[in-house]
Amino acid sequence: MSEDTLPLPTGYQLSALDPVYRETPWEPLGRLRDADPVHHDQQLNRYFFTRGSEVEALVKNRHLVVDPAKANDGTFTKTLYGQNSKELSLLMLDDPDHARQRNLVLKAFNKRSVDALTPRIHEIAKDLADDIEAVEGEFDFVQLFGSPLPTTVMAELLGVNAADRKDFRRWSLGCMQALNPFRTLEQTALYEESTTTLADYLAVEVEKRRGNTDEDLISRLARAEEEGDTLTTTDIVLLIRLLLIAGNSTTTDMIGSGIVQFLKNPDQLAKLKADPLLIDNALDEILRVEPPVAQALRTAPEEMHLVDKVVKKGETIHLSLFGAHYDPALNPDPQKFDITRQDIKHFAFGGGAHYCLGAGLGKVQAKIALPMLFDRFPNLAFAPEREVKHKIAPAFNGYGEIWLVK
Ligand code: HEM
Repeated sequence: MSEDTLPLPTGYQLSALDPVYRETPWEPLGRLRDADPVHHDQQLNRYFFTRGSEVEALVKNRHLVVDPAKANDGTFTKTLYGQNSKELSLLMLDDPDHARQRNLVLKAFNKRSVDALTPRIHEIAKDLADDIEAVEGEFDFVQLFGSPLPTTVMAELLGVNAADRKDFRRWSLGCMQALNPFRTLEQTALYEESTTTLADYLAVEVEKRRGNTDEDLISRLARAEEEGDTLTTTDIVLLIRLLLIAGNSTTTDMIGSGIVQFLKNPDQLAKLKADPLLIDNALDEILRVEPPVAQALRTAPEEMHLVDKVVKKGETIHLSLFGAHYDPALNPDPQKFDITRQDIKHFAFGGGAHYCLGAGLGKVQAKIALPMLFDRFPNLAFAPEREVKHKIAPAFNGYGEIWLVK
């Protein structure tokens, strides 16, 4: 069958469960963008947007809603979040609750705390690089560096006891199953066990900190107050759970994708080494070609006429970040990884009311880690006879394992 006669991709084919989508998302998304840019995916019941122009406008549109309670029965959003409404806290709240919680969190979770953490991020990254130094032969970068860096940073930010830190990684991976619409019974059990255990653990930590003056994030959230308004223990527990889900694997994926892209494109690595100031642009290019979060979900607050479709109130609007990033109208020659690209357009941190709260924290970790690793291990290369493959993680994008030699 020629490209033109192939049926358009839909449903599972537009998710990381599909091997073609997983490794080359620009192929199915490009075909869909050309033929049906607002695609009514009847298998998963969502309107799937692939053009940069609509994705940009809709992700920034503060009028759209996210609360799953406002989604129609049977929609993608309802199926995904129906049973655990509000469990993801901020990400699923609309105003006024969203603005109220976000304002309280912003106070405790601002640039100052990220700046204060930066020297520690350098130290943690250096210690993890020492672990790589000590390894003989091939090693999995994700396990040795990509994953422990953000989980350790997050645990320090939260002020969690060092002895409990390895549980954090397990719990945060378990909680991420919240975003898997195709979870197996086993994954559901893992999700339920992780969310409950984590919630119990955090509730105790919050209560312990009430009234203290420490600077860790849990203490700051426990005393955050604006015009007499405070966060309840449940608010804080849900928020921290969200930070773990939203902040750990995304940062792991960003750093891992950075390593993969530079090793696949040695000319770009040479450019970075020749001009280290290119790092900021390089980070945006990494986020463009490999967005750690592949989608943003919204619900139509009323009937909307979008391009050639009528999207009814309560229907799911699925914004494909991959689709937008690889739209040649937005980023010319989109498949090229080019760290000198001008005017990179990406929505890897979303936009509008739900713009990522941890964008600065995620980026600073990659900014510290990538140049340090390439500097310290100049012969870093893919391990022979190991394939570099994306992980199967609906809604997310990254590499589960990255086998390297140094
Ligand atoms: C490279 C790393 C990261 C990426 C790519 C990323 C991506 C995103 C995206 C796309 C959204 C918006 C989702 C939507 O609009 O539906 C978001 C929201 C959010 N992110 Fe991140 N994130 C990253 C790191 C972090 C970190 C490190 C934290 C926290 C420590 C964090 C906390 C949050 C929170 C709390 C929200 C919800 C904000 C709201 O609903 O008001 N993220 N992130």
